[in-house]
Amino acid sequence: MIDKKTCETFELSNEDKAAIDIWVAQYPAEHKRSAVIPALHIAQKANGGWLSEAAMKAVAEYLELPQIQVFEVATFYSMFELAPVGRHKLCVCTNVSCLLSGSDEIVSHLKKRLGINLGETTADNKITLKEVECLGACVNAPVLQLREEFHEHLTPEKIDALLEGLE
Ligand code: FES
Repeated sequence: MIDKKTCETFELSNEDKAAIDIWVAQYPAEHKRSAVIPALHIAQKANGGWLSEAAMKAVAEYLELPQIQVFEVATFYSMFELAPVGRHKLCVCTNVSCLLSGSDEIVSHLKKRLGINLGETTADNKITLKEVECLGACVNAPVLQLREEFHEHLTPEKIDALLEGLE
């Protein structure tokens, strides 16, 4: 378990700033706010997979925005984490198409294999299991997302293979 108190400081690295600058350059100079979502993704990755208050403040400062404008985005979207997560985050869709295609069985299998419930992280801090809304891949339901990859037409066997491949 990551101690949140150890994460009270955060600074964007020069590489992070350069990555954010690429997004800022996509918009008119007076609309830096448009780069908030990609900037939060960059900060989240740099902060070990979640956004501490310090990380959100760093984004606000770098984009010269009121902190509330960054906080409101970070707290709205489910892809942003406001507490520490495991090294691997499995985001399982349980919305209508996935539900009709067996996401219940997938979730049950994951819970049993990992020994955790939705919204929890394994004791070794390896895997966080998260329930999410539609991932936009309904035609290939049931679906889960791991990092930028979608795993589709899930079965318990596919889940086993996926888990075995995670270090
Ligand atoms: S309902 Fe699961 S991807 Fe759309």
